[in-house]
Amino acid sequence: MTDQIIWTAITPVENIPPREGRAVNAGSQEIAIFNIGGRYLTIENKCPHKGGPLCDGIVSGTSVVCPLHARRFDLETGMAVRATEPACVATYPTKVEGGVIYVDLAGARKAYEDAAA
Ligand code: FES
Repeated sequence: MTDQIIWTAITPVENIPPREGRAVNAGSQEIAIFNIGGRYLTIENKCPHKGGPLCDGIVSGTSVVCPLHARRFDLETGMAVRATEPACVATYPTKVEGGVIYVDLAGARKAYEDAAA
């Protein structure tokens, strides 16, 4: 069995300003796409703590700080950074082609599953 990647066109790159994130409703999923200096990274938009909208967080390097209670998540791995307990958001394969951002919506990966989830 092979894992087939199905790329979904999401938005032109100019809709995601540098060092910011934007929420996108894609089917039943809400994702957040971030522009890290012209590189685009996608995570689920819901903070595992209390559901904060990560798209509205402050971007620093390759991490984002949740706007509600300031937990920091690595945008590449989805892992909480310097957290007192492990936590993680899903990451999605993302690419740019012809100035359009594509995401593999079925390719969500979590580096860590919350025991309480
Ligand atoms: S909801 Fe994100 S840190 Fe609390």
